[in-house]
Order: sequence, then structure tokens, then C-alpha cells
Amino acid sequence: MSEQDRLTITKAAIARLSGAKDPRFKRVMTALIRHLHEFAREVELTEEEWMTAIGFLTDTGKMCGGKRQEFILLSDTLGVSMLTVMLAQARATRGRASRGATEATVQGPFFWEGAPEMALGADIANGVAGEPAFYRGRVTSTRGAPIAGALIDVWSVDAGGLYDMQTGEEMRARAKFRSDREGRYSFWSVRPAHYPVPTDGPVGRMLRAMGRHAYRPAHVHFMVRAKGYAPLVTHVFDSRSKYLDSDAVFGVRDSLIGKFTKHPAGTAPDGRRIPSPYYTVDFDLRLAPQAKSPTRRRCRADRGPGHGAGEEGDRRQGEAARLADLRADATRRDRLSRERRRRGARSPCRHRTRGGGARERLHRRRAQVHRGEQQAHRRNGGGGEARRAQGRLMGVAERVWGALTAVIKLEDRVTRQSEALKAQQTKLEDLTGRIIRLEAQLELLTSAALVKRLKGS
Ligand SMILES: [Fe+2]
Repeated sequence: MSEQDRLTITKAAIARLSGAKDPRFKRVMTALIRHLHEFAREVELTEEEWMTAIGFLTDTGKMCGGKRQEFILLSDTLGVSMLTVMLAQARATRGRASRGATEATVQGPFFWEGAPEMALGADIANGVAGEPAFYRGRVTSTRGAPIAGALIDVWSVDAGGLYDMQTGEEMRARAKFRSDREGRYSFWSVRPAHYPVPTDGPVGRMLRAMGRHAYRPAHVHFMVRAKGYAPLVTHVFDSRSKYLDSDAVFGVRDSLIGKFTKHPAGTAPDGRRIPSPYYTVDFDLRLAPQAKSPTRRRCRADRGPGHGAGEEGDRRQGEAARLADLRADATRRDRLSRERRRRGARSPCRHRTRGGGARERLHRRRAQVHRGEQQAHRRNGGGGEARRAQGRLMGVAERVWGALTAVIKLEDRVTRQSEALKAQQTKLEDLTGRIIRLEAQLELLTSAALVKRLKGS
């Protein structure tokens, strides 16, 4: 492959997406190919390294099953899971109604679908080791309104740092509940310990190679679903746990750190008699309203510049709606004015309006609409400004591309010349060696001739 191919292969691979019908798929794959190619170029990826990576991903797939999801673990430990959670939260909280919602964090690889639904206040520990802990709180909207009937999945490790699915076939320290009419929930379980993510697979090998520890701070998982609200996946972290500053999956958020308050043996808040010290944890869950049509909004953004992407698109839509309102208002007033003139009636506002009657107001209204349209046209550039800017950008990109190609060509020419120089140097060294050897032979011959001559004399 020539050096030119090494660059243009990226364009060629992206061009093969021209038949893709799903715009979101096309956008994601285009970026993936571009970044993947750039990564390979940046690190000068060798075939051996690439085959090692493929082997690593194959091993990761082989570790996945009903109870183990090594790919989620890989995504978690590389920080990608948490990054996608942050992006989703940022999108969701753009709306004012979503502000104040409980922060989300990673789901992790230990969610087990189908946990038993239990009565509020039940003990879900099911015999796992650990000090008893009573968890309680309310599920509300961001404005504090109670959400009744919310489905709450909870799961955690035991005091030894193990999940039920790591120790057997039975679900333990895991259940689901429904919030009551006041949005309240409560249950008993154990105080969890900090624990390492599984390190007996390819992700463990990767962490060791990176020189990283594999620990997560102590936490309890929550997954909350309620009609009309965005699903929430989150944790409550133990404020006294180790590793809050270096979670192996980057999942800690300050707002999710809760207090495990210790109590002596006695009567618990729910009236239960507890024969040993126990903990209470208060953790409210505030849900954001469900976005109305995230798919439509996303597709609009995927159409790219000139198609109303993101906030710019929203601004233009708002402006268009405002102009439509003004136009409709002006038309309505125009019609009313015509009707009044036809009936010979005077405008009821005539004497109250400074500077004239309905006709003048109508002119002013029309002028206002016209000014609004002109402003919108100037701001949007009628699409022409955006296109010109895009054209300029493309021109710059082409020039950068050309310069980059020239630099790489130059670099390769220098490399070739350097190699030729090295070859000539090697040849020169060989010749020098031969000359030295010939000189030595000549010296020997001269010495022998001298000895012979001396003997003869
Ligand atoms: Fe966990």
C-alpha cells in the first residue's frame, strides 16, 4: 500500500456508508471509522498488536453469559459506560423540569432480571453475611410530588464483597418493590462492603497491565421505573467506604454519597426488634419526566448543519413559531378591520391608541412582522451564510489534508534517502575493511621479501 492509500483508505471506508439508511447509524459509524483509523495511524499499530486486540475481544465475548457480562465490565473500567450516562443525563436535564433529578450512574454487570417483588419493609438479605441495614426513602418528581407505584429494583454485595450470582444460583440481597401512595419505599438488607470487579478474565488482565486496582467503593444499586418518568439507574455509596476517590468504574458522584448511621441493638424505625447493632440509610429518588420524543430530536440533530441541529434548531423553530403567531394575529386584525369598515363601525380602540386607528395599527403590525422576518433572514443568512461557512470550512480542511499529505511524502523521502545513505556507509565500511586486510597482507609480503633478501645476503 502506498503512503497515499494509507490516508485515503479512511475516506474510502467512510464512503462505503453512502447506502446506509439510518442517519444515526451512519453518523456513529462514520465517526467510529474515522477515530479508529486515526488511532491506528497515531500508534503505528502493528499486525501483531491488532491480532492481540482481536484475541482480547474474543476472550471477552467468551466470558459473557447469563450471569457474567465481561463487555459491560470492559466498558465500565474504560470509563465509557459512565461517559454515556453523563451524556444522557446532560441531555435529559436540559429541560427545566428535569433539574434536580437524582444523578445516574453505571448499571454494572451484576443486574439480574427477574428479582422477586417483595412487600415494603421486607428483609431481602436472605441469609447473606453482613450487619443489618434499613434502607428507606421516597420516590418523587423533581418538584417533590410523590410517585406512587414506582418499580424499584435493588441489589448489592454482602459484607464479603460478593454478589449472589458469584456465589450460587439463588437470588440474595436482591429484590424489587413498589412505592406506596406517598412514594415511600423501605427494606432491610445488609451494609455492603467495597469489592473488586472480577479480575479472572480478560478485563482483569487489562487492569493488571495498566497497573490499576480493581476496587469499587461500597454501594447499593437502584433501578427505578415509573410511568411518565425517565428510568433511573443509580447507587447510594457508603460515605465511609474506601475507594470513593478511585472507583474502578468511575461511577461515584458526590450527590450519591449517603450516610450509613449506626444504631445499637433495639427497636428499629419500622418497629422491628433488632438484636444486634444495625444501620439506617435515607435515600430519596427524584425522577425526571420522560422526554417526549427523544428519537425525533436525535434524528433532527443527525441531519447536520443547515437542518436545525440542536439548540440552533430549537431557536429557529421558536422564531418561526413566533413569526407565525404574529402573521396570524395581523391577518385576524386585518379581517376584523375590514368587517368593521364594511359595517360602518368605528374601532373601539381608536381613541385610546396613540397615533391613529386600526389601519395604522395594522400597518405597524405588518411592519413588525416584516422586521421580524428580515431579522430572522439576516440571522439565518437564508441558509446561504451557513452554506458559505461550511464551504470555507471544507476549503480549510482540504488545505490541511493537502499539507498533511505533503509532510508525509517528505518524511518518507527523507527516510528513503537516509536508508540509501546508510547502505552506502555500510559499503564504504566494507571497502575500508578490505583495504585494511590488503594492507596487512602487503605488509606481510614485504616482511617476507625482506627476510628472504637478508638470508640471501
Ligand atoms: Fe455494584
